[in-house]
Amino acid sequence: MLRVTYLSRESDAFSARALIDLLEHCKLRNPAQGVTGMLIYANGTFLQTLEGEPNTVETLLGKIERDGRHREFQVINRESTATRLYENWSMGFERLTEAALQEIPALRAFQLENFNPEFLSVHPTIVENLLERHRSVHWDPLIREIDARDQFIDELRRALVNASQRNEQALLLIESVIEASAEGKLTGNHLQLCRRMVETLRKR
Ligand SMILES: Cc1cc2nc3c(=O)[nH]c(=O)nc-3n(C[C@H](O)[C@H](O)[C@H](O)COP(=O)(O)O)c2cc1C
Repeated sequence: MLRVTYLSRESDAFSARALIDLLEHCKLRNPAQGVTGMLIYANGTFLQTLEGEPNTVETLLGKIERDGRHREFQVINRESTATRLYENWSMGFERLTEAALQEIPALRAFQLENFNPEFLSVHPTIVENLLERHRSVHWDPLIREIDARDQFIDELRRALVNASQRNEQALLLIESVIEASAEGKLTGNHLQLCRRMVETLRKR
């Protein structure tokens, strides 16, 4: 398997709706191709990791690189691997905020304004810390052992991560409805997305 991480900058500001569309696309396409990964967005910057079969990942990466919605695409890590780090995510997503950074001890000194390609491309440890907490298997062998011994903790962690993913998606949807209604462009599609979101939230 191949795992690739890249950085890029949005061409024009991504609206909440545009982010939802992108994530819906990833959730539809990635599972069919056996691709998993994580996408972090803040400050108009994307940090994405993709993992899967080498040919699939390379082809997808080529498409993503040519995508006009972002520019200054640069691969910062490429590695062969036997195991997936994001096996639970067709494409996990986080919009990074100051509040989120405060919750990560290793990143308390990191300023959100430094979430940009120039800074991140020369600070691999920060990139690692940003991505690490979304992984299904923790990089730290001690934590891995604790997790292995105590399945309950592992399940609890998954539930928490799932909850934060749902929260992120619900927030995006609400913002996109606000955007659309401010522009007088609210459609049946928005209503449908809202219904689906309510169903998803009720299921838990
Ligand atoms: C930041 C960013 C991340 C993307 N990530 C993915 C992805 O994980 N999977 C995917 O299929 N498309 C992704 N895309 C979309 C692709 O660039 C491209 O639009 C899509 O693969 C086209 O699919 P198609 O040619 O099969 O229709 C991403 C685009 C951007 C701007």
